[in-house]
Amino acid sequence: MAEKPVIFVTRKLPAPVEARIARDYEGIFNPDDRLYTADELVEISAKADAMMPCHSEQLTAEVIARLPDCIKAIANFSVGYDHVDVAAAKERGIIVTNTPDVLSDATAEIAMLCMLGAARRAGEGVGLVREAGWQDWSPAFMVGHQVTGKRFGVIGMGRVGQVAAKRARGFDMDIHYTKRTRLDASIESPLAATYHETIEDLLPQCDVLSLHCPATPETKGLLNEARLALLPEGAIVVNTARGALIDDDALVAALKSGQVAAAGLDVFNGEPRDIHPEYRSLPNVFALPHIGSATRDTRIAMGYRALDNLDAIFAGKEPGDRVA
Ligand code: 8YV
Repeated sequence: MAEKPVIFVTRKLPAPVEARIARDYEGIFNPDDRLYTADELVEISAKADAMMPCHSEQLTAEVIARLPDCIKAIANFSVGYDHVDVAAAKERGIIVTNTPDVLSDATAEIAMLCMLGAARRAGEGVGLVREAGWQDWSPAFMVGHQVTGKRFGVIGMGRVGQVAAKRARGFDMDIHYTKRTRLDASIESPLAATYHETIEDLLPQCDVLSLHCPATPETKGLLNEARLALLPEGAIVVNTARGALIDDDALVAALKSGQVAAAGLDVFNGEPRDIHPEYRSLPNVFALPHIGSATRDTRIAMGYRALDNLDAIFAGKEPGDRVA
């Protein structure tokens, strides 16, 4: 029997995923879940036919240039692939795949949590209860913003954006969105969504603005000072996509001036350790540590989806989720 392909699994994955890898491949696992350095990634890759990284592994052009020729594929355990220089991978003939669809529900749940957490001041509330700062009640105590019936704006109406919009409809919110290409009527109509051709057209219509586009050189710093000024005063900003979409200094200034009433953020520039310091202290920031896809079901589904891609690649077929 031919030898099984060797898969370098850079982080510890859910047990059922690792069991499937051990059944169908020879796995190089990371039982201690240590974050490898670039040198280690290159070194361990020398023993593997493919790599299964997470967004925590920075596969820059420089790292990809150093990968040994034995690496045929990078099957990401993530939908976002901004941590991989796909052009560099393409140049080396390395196939790159991602894991779309399977995490849309989980991530949209976190978008709703971020929206409600920001609007209803959940971070402050939890802090008051935990630190015994809750001493009194008054009609003005912890008054926040109601989202029911308000306008929910989406930048990047892809898979996650569409589920988030559907959930926002559950709060009777009116959906507004922008996207490079307008949604087909069969998707737009059930959401009763209003299309705007440009971000500039969309922003004045957003009581809540939720970001759902990928991080690319074109979308970096997309939410900047000029665009924040186009939001209605007191809008809520939600980001469950990538920190890179936001100009942090501009958002912090808007949170301080009241132009933005509150932000619900699950992703950050410089995460996990080096995020903008004011996100840690501003009372009107509801912050979570990048847990959009962090449910047991979703993480298993992500692993299986990455393996479906590898199965296709090693069977000489086209993988379903090829991005390069
Ligand atoms: C994952 C994500 O936790 O899939 C993505 O793009 O941002 C997250 O939900 C992470 O990327 C896993 O590698």
